[in-house]
Amino acid sequence: MNPVHADFFAGGAGEERTLKANTDAYARRRIIPRVLRGTGPRDLRTTVCGTDLSMPVLIAPTAFHLLAHPAGETGTAAGAAAAGTAMVVSMAATQPIEQIATAGATLWFQLYPQPDTAFQDALIGRVTKAGVKALVVTVDSPVLGHRRRDLRNGFTDLPDGLACANMDGRDIVMDAALGWPHIDRLRAATGLPLILKGILHPADAALAVEHGADAIIVSNHGGRQLDGAIATLDALPAVLGATGGRIPVLIDGGIRTGTDVLVALALGATAVLVGRPVIRGLAAGGAHGVRETLETLRAQLDHGLALAGAQRPADLTPDLIT
Ligand SMILES: Cc1cc2nc3c(=O)[nH]c(=O)nc-3n(C[C@H](O)[C@H](O)[C@H](O)COP(=O)(O)O)c2cc1C
Repeated sequence: MNPVHADFFAGGAGEERTLKANTDAYARRRIIPRVLRGTGPRDLRTTVCGTDLSMPVLIAPTAFHLLAHPAGETGTAAGAAAAGTAMVVSMAATQPIEQIATAGATLWFQLYPQPDTAFQDALIGRVTKAGVKALVVTVDSPVLGHRRRDLRNGFTDLPDGLACANMDGRDIVMDAALGWPHIDRLRAATGLPLILKGILHPADAALAVEHGADAIIVSNHGGRQLDGAIATLDALPAVLGATGGRIPVLIDGGIRTGTDVLVALALGATAVLVGRPVIRGLAAGGAHGVRETLETLRAQLDHGLALAGAQRPADLTPDLIT
């Protein structure tokens, strides 16, 4: 891969402290396994917001897949379909949603709330028509994070011939004026499940429930927005305390192995999303590489469940983690 693009995919904001904190938080945790539970074969199937998944691992929305591989987002979606999980398509996807949908995966669509609500409504109509099963609204980006690698590399624009293919020639606007009224408007504008991505504070998790969110994703954007933000795994318990089981709580950031998935589930997450590992799989082997990445996570999670004495994700409980 072009090293400038590799830096775009790998990098975080500022000193990359939060980027590192996300993975460190998993490395710090240890599992206290149960034994002699007679679990037999494992069953990893999970349903989130009406979407059936072969395992509680989804593909996080990430921008510009054509920079990683000529198969682009359609290749990623084909990998998701082969693994029986869902892909969250980024608003900054480089292929049209209708093309990505031909891969046959279950798709959710990620939206940065746009101040131009007429355009936003039209886009929601378009992705709904294309068969998208949920809207993921990213709320951690009132402004763009300071990504020093990109600034150093002068990576400000997509190469000629590439564009955000679902934006009708517009730029994605990040608007610091947006607030909960915009979420209320979105809630009224769509019958699709509405999932808020980028919640870290328990008070915001409680507000998300009050404003009708169907789920939330505990996320710091993979350490790409506010450097110094709390690691997502460390934020999870308080968020779960605030939501009190009223809606599913998903998590992303720093999940690199099946045992990381196990830890997040045991601490109360309904499912996890993975970003960079999927991009690496795509870059290395297109759809096949994405599938391999997901199947590796599945095999590791399955193995971890067996060794921890659990048959299903729901058997995992916080007492298994220290
Ligand atoms: C290269 C890259 C691009 C991303 N683009 C988006 C995006 O367009 N929209 C969004 O909501 N999140 C975006 N994210 C954040 C991911 O959805 C996710 O929160 C993060 O990657 C999870 O951390 P992980 O990469 O450690 O798994 C991006 C992340 C990366 C690494």
